Amino acid sequence: MDKVPYLLKRDVFSDEELRLIFDELQFLNNSYLMQPPKNSGSAISDGNIIKNNKGVFLRNVYCREDASSIIRLLKDRLSDYGIQYSKLHIANLTAADTNEIWFLVSYYENEDCYKPHEDATFATALFWFNKEPQKFTGGDLTFNNTNEVVEYKNNTCVIFPGWARHSVSPVYFDGEGDREGRYCVTVGMHIVPK
Ligand SMILES: [Fe+2]
Repeated sequence: MDKVPYLLKRDVFSDEELRLIFDELQFLNNSYLMQPPKNSGSAISDGNIIKNNKGVFLRNVYCREDASSIIRLLKDRLSDYGIQYSKLHIANLTAADTNEIWFLVSYYENEDCYKPHEDATFATALFWFNKEPQKFTGGDLTFNNTNEVVEYKNNTCVIFPGWARHSVSPVYFDGEGDREGRYCVTVGMHIVPK
């Protein structure tokens, strides 16, 4: 089987950009905003919810996109990475025509994971963050059709096709309650007729 045509970028943001992003992630990660899986866009398999984490769609938080450093900075990187991704493989070509995107912040700790599933997107971009020093293990991404593993690391971006089956391994965390586990900002990339 062919490999999944995914784009991997490490060391995506500067220290100052990471500080802005992490401040916002910790603000978002409170009990009022973060929603359980059934309210935060979980994939479903055989009628069962298959993720175990908390999440919030940023469109439900901000009425102005430019109020969010996360949206501003991720969009900036995606303007470049999206083009690189579209050139990786003929099946990715139309990613350059993405005209609708959404942002979902997820937080993993205490054996949180996401079982194998496909995304209802044209392509998905994941951005990973944690407070240094890292207080957990796990949280790696696996492409299940090809058994390719992308090791979790702070300040990483992965872009892959929505059809590629993928999963997140359980996070083992030793700092409960301090909001310093594994953060993922998922960007759903769509091509919508307009
Ligand atoms: Fe997914």
